[in-house]
Amino acid sequence: MKTPVAVLLSGSGSNLQAMIDKVQAGVIEADIRLVLSNRADAFGLTRAAKRGIPTAVVEHGAYPCREAFDAALLAAIAKSGARVVVLAGFMRILGPEIVSAFAGRMLNIHPALLPSFPGVHGQPDAARHGVKISGCTVHFVDEKMDHGPIVIQAAVPALADDDGKALGARILALEHRIYPQAVHWLCTGRLHVRGRHVHLDPADVPPADMAGAGPCLVNPPLEQGF
Ligand code: GAR
Repeated sequence: MKTPVAVLLSGSGSNLQAMIDKVQAGVIEADIRLVLSNRADAFGLTRAAKRGIPTAVVEHGAYPCREAFDAALLAAIAKSGARVVVLAGFMRILGPEIVSAFAGRMLNIHPALLPSFPGVHGQPDAARHGVKISGCTVHFVDEKMDHGPIVIQAAVPALADDDGKALGARILALEHRIYPQAVHWLCTGRLHVRGRHVHLDPADVPPADMAGAGPCLVNPPLEQGF
């Protein structure tokens, strides 16, 4: 049976779209039962509706405190029957109740190589800092922001004249690949968390040539002879 999933988002929903496409292609063992947003104008809701996926809006401004907002989120998720929660650009911090209710069953994606550049401006923060490599991280959600055990990361080069937008576009293209993969692993019971470490079952053995100068990203690239 496919795992029932709820996706929470606040904006465009391009990560949701990547997931919907993989579900419809039969690549992800997930059934997206609900797309929920804290913003009624989130384009992600339109993407979901176009594919016949139920949507809900729980506007944070309509609740007197975070506990009440979280309780409304929990109720909507419970009603959908979702067992896994996927945060895809959901720009609200979740309280301990909802985090513990979905411990080990809630993923987030962040547009930087955590633990570098957490927060809501991951891409411009990295570009401003002048890093040469950035990327994206899928992690389990715990009680601290952008902090839980890491499932998968992907790296992209950051160029000297990148701004947050240019770097962000390069990162986003990879988000669309690693997030559906991570969701598939979670939904098929292949992720095991031990402390801060996430183990992939069967074991995530690196390619044989990693022992030498295997697949790696060096930016700027090394010149001939180095
Ligand atoms: C993505 O880049 C995601 O990594 C980021 O919001 C964007 C949502 O895009 N999330 C965060 O910054 C969380 N701290 P999308 O709505 O097109 O999927």
